[in-house]
Amino acid sequence: WPFMAPYVKAINDLKQQRNAVILAHNYQTPEIFHCVADIGGDSLQLAREATKVKEKVIVQCGVHFMAETSKILNPDKTVLIPDSRAGCSLASSITGADVRLLRERFPGVPVVAYVNTSADVKAEVDICCTSSNAVQVVESLNAETVIFLPDQYLAKYVASKTSVKIIAWKGACEVHERFTGDELRTYREADPSVQIIAHPECPPDVIAEADFTGSTAHMIDWVRKHQPKRIVMVTECSMADNVQAELPNVEFVKPCNLCPHMKRITLPKILDSLIYMREEVTIDPMIIDKARRSVERMINLKN
Ligand code: 13P
Ligand code: SF4
Repeated sequence: WPFMAPYVKAINDLKQQRNAVILAHNYQTPEIFHCVADIGGDSLQLAREATKVKEKVIVQCGVHFMAETSKILNPDKTVLIPDSRAGCSLASSITGADVRLLRERFPGVPVVAYVNTSADVKAEVDICCTSSNAVQVVESLNAETVIFLPDQYLAKYVASKTSVKIIAWKGACEVHERFTGDELRTYREADPSVQIIAHPECPPDVIAEADFTGSTAHMIDWVRKHQPKRIVMVTECSMADNVQAELPNVEFVKPCNLCPHMKRITLPKILDSLIYMREEVTIDPMIIDKARRSVERMINLKN
């Protein structure tokens, strides 16, 4: 990406002057993930790393709920997101008021929120989870029934792995819900030796076709460990580009579903973010205090 080089240099220089750290999700494009990010990972890794940050400024290269999680964990730091319109179909499917209504409808039933939710929602729930630890979080509550929100497909996946009864919200990820089992069968027919690994935000017929299901970090670990000849990673397609750089001998077959929200973050916007110190993520301090309890409760669970 030669035309990107001046941006990379300017961002890395300014990052030092601003005493800033750049956190990037696995779905960021390679020039962001490999050239300017200090820390990359899945939602759980980024939340954990956000608790250890020494710098005064965090630039979150990901979507808005991820920047909010960093702010919740670092209320005294400046958290910037290069484009605050970077949303998420899961996060926008539910509000704090919806959670209060669920609690009225199912009194005493604990509520688990996927981190793909707003700070307002995190403030209303008992504990958060990510796709890396969802089953462990649900079981940690020692309850017969748990409300799981907002991803109906992750909820179904969790329900298939535990005896806890799951009451699910009806949200979905607009990227993962587009995959179909038929599409994956076509890949297998073309090459029966191809390996297929899927994110648990996918519908059940997709997961049924997959050789492995896991969070983005678990998917990357799986590819590193098995180094298959050909692989389909059933998730946002920038991740295959990021792993390809590390594993040139693996052929990535790419059903290219892009997350339009993740793709709002670009090098020019990251540079502007550091020049103008924008867009700053702000959350009501009362909401931060309540939301932090559910995020920290998740982070403090033993691995
Ligand atoms: P993880 O990286 O935690 O698996 O989440 C995937 C995702 O869709 C984030 O938006
Ligand atoms: Fe949200 Fe899906 Fe995009 Fe992740 S990939 S940010 S879950 S819309």
